[in-house]
This record gives sequence, C-alpha cells and structure tokens, in this order.
Amino acid sequence: MKHLLSINDLDLTGATTILDDAEEFSEVQQRDIKKLPTLRGRTVVNLFFEDSTRTRSSFEIAGKWLSADVINMSAKGSSTSKGESLRDTAMTVAAMGVDALVIRHSASGAPSQVAGWVDCGVVNAGDGMHEHPTQALLDAFTLRRHLRRVHGPDASFAGCRVAIIGDLTHSRVVRSNVLLLNLLGAEVTLVAPRTLMPSGVDAWPVTIADDVDDVLPEMDAVMLLRVQRERMSGGFFPTPREYTIGYGMTRDRLQMLRPEAAIMHPGPMNRGLEISSDAADGAASRILEQVAAGVAVRMSVLYQVLGGNQEGER
Ligand code: CP
Repeated sequence: MKHLLSINDLDLTGATTILDDAEEFSEVQQRDIKKLPTLRGRTVVNLFFEDSTRTRSSFEIAGKWLSADVINMSAKGSSTSKGESLRDTAMTVAAMGVDALVIRHSASGAPSQVAGWVDCGVVNAGDGMHEHPTQALLDAFTLRRHLRRVHGPDASFAGCRVAIIGDLTHSRVVRSNVLLLNLLGAEVTLVAPRTLMPSGVDAWPVTIADDVDDVLPEMDAVMLLRVQRERMSGGFFPTPREYTIGYGMTRDRLQMLRPEAAIMHPGPMNRGLEISSDAADGAASRILEQVAAGVAVRMSVLYQVLGGNQEGER
C-alpha cells in the first residue's frame, strides 16, 4: 500500500490485515517491548496544518516505536506562515529524503493532492470534512476487541449495530467510519438534527433516524461525535441546550443502553454538550481504549505504507 488517503483505498482483506497486525503490535507493547526495529532507517514527517492532540502524538509514538525517525511540523513555525503553498511545502519536505508524509489539513482532498506531487508515501491524518481513515481503523479495532470480549474470540462485525450521533455535517470521522463499518459488515444508524446531517446522506449505506431514544436500546455501540462549533460560520442550530436535550448522551440516556453496549467518542469531547461525564468516564466507555488503539493501529498503517523492514523483519 503506497498511500492511505481514504478507507476506499482498502478492501476487506486490506482493512482486516491492518487490524490484525495492530493486534500483534499491541501484544508486543503489552510485553513491555516498546521498540521494534521494523522501520529503522526510515523517516516519517508529521505535517499538521490543523491542531491535534491524539493523532499527531500517536503517529509520533507509532513511528518511534517502529524505530523510524519522526519529525513534527506544523503550519505555525513553518514557512507556510510566510505564504508558502501546500505544494511547495510538501515537495520541499519530500525532497529531503522523507519516506512518508502524515498530513492533516483543513482542505478536503489535500493529502490526495500531495500524493500526486511527491514520490513518498502519504497518510491522511484528517482532511477537512472529507475523511479520517486511521480514526475509523482505530475505532474498528476497539469495537472488534469489545465484541470479542462480549461474544467470544470468533465475534465478527456481521450484524453488529452501531449508532453514530452528532454533528455529522462537519465530521470526517463519520465518513470514514461509515465506509469502514460497512466494509466490515456492521449496520450503521446515523442520528443528528437535520441541520447537522451531511448533504447526500440519503445515498449512504446507513439507516437514518431522528429519535435517539428509539435507537439507543438496539445498539451494540454508540459513537458520539463532537459538535464542531468552530466550523459553523452561520451559528449553531439547535442551541447547545437543545442539542443536549435532543441528542446528548446524558446520564438518563445511559439507562437506555443494553448492558454490554460500548460508548465511543473519537475526541476531543465537549463534555456536557454531546456527552456527559457519566457516559465518558463510566463503565461502558471505551474512549481511552480508542486512544490506546491509536498507537497500535498507526504502527500497523506505517508498516503497510513503508513496507516493513528492508531485511523483512517485523
Ligand atoms: N480524534 C482526533 O483526530 O483527535 P485529535 O484532533 O486530537 O487528533
């Protein structure tokens, strides 16, 4: 795999291989063997034009635990702030002998554009409202582990019901998750105020619902997505209070979930808006497991993109 720009770059075998390899990397970490020689001699540049806590740091840890050299660059502090274009920035960095660029950008499609300009591998770390493929992969990794804990080691995604609730219009996470969960065989229900539903959603392979309270009792997992107020130039309708009453994972709504249902959120969370602290920190929450999975899954993605060790050693 030269690039990971979209979940559409993966077929079922490719996605499953990333999840299975991530399990192996995770098991190695649990044995306290943090560092593997797999990508020794390779250089990864994290090129982040938007802020990030989880994605940037987990890509950095993932690269370092595979013994790659990892360099972090952000728009602030680079010549982007002097007006250098994305093309010139990407080509300049790639010309230094970099093996992979991990790119986050506010413009949908930016990583795909960069992949056409440079010879090295490109990984999409979130582009505008388009996709966040490694987030979907770590979500699937977390959910698969959860299903195996609940239903046994042979549990699959077939028949698994996942509700995705939140600001779906502005979410790149929902787009990647719908593609991946569908590929893996899960059934996805989307719930949001009509003002926060993406255009064209009627053509997506999902069920669309209006009433959270009807949906929750049926679900194996509920994924809450952040209300992205910074992307709402025309104000926020409904109001935050109306949103929480209509769609928030409140303490009362926790009681509607099946006992074994998982609560997920990609972060960062708006506590008290789309998710209560009772839900975020309670027994059903898999949120910190998602964060931990980010390292193993990104190790797996870097391993795929960079082709492993020159000597073929894992
Ligand atoms: N989930 C996610 O992408 O978080 P960050 O913005 O902190 O990377």
